[in-house]
Amino acid sequence: MRTTKAVTACVAMGITLALSAGAALGGESGEAGYQKHCAVCHGVGGEADTPAGKALKVGPLKGLALEAAKVSQHVRKSTNHSAVASKLSDEELAAIAEFVSTL
Ligand code: HEC
Repeated sequence: MRTTKAVTACVAMGITLALSAGAALGGESGEAGYQKHCAVCHGVGGEADTPAGKALKVGPLKGLALEAAKVSQHVRKSTNHSAVASKLSDEELAAIAEFVSTL
């Protein structure tokens, strides 16, 4: 009986670890998605210090501490973002928005 409990505990721990690794990967892919889809205008660190950012008069995202849900909404609604928004699933956009909220 004891052994069974220990095994169950180990399995549970393994699952928890696997899940947290998955969450960490999700965070990374949000950042990768941002670099791929947003950085051209918003800059690698959110400073909007790119030629496209300057030409379009993009303000910095860095330091705004926007809520992730607001970021997703903005990208879905703003006409400046219709090209990029059409390439992203809700899940991809949510991961990117989560990253933007940390800038
Ligand atoms: C083609 C250039 C371009 C790309 C690519 C782009 N943006 Fe923008 N973004 C803009 C411009 C221009 C504005 C300012 C006008 C507006 O709000 O639409 C802006 C504003 C924003 C704002 C509002 C910031 C504020 O001051 O409240 C958010 C949030 C945002 N972008 C998120 C994103 C995210 C996330 C992506 C990637 C999925 C992205 N943008 C990709 C051009 C771009």
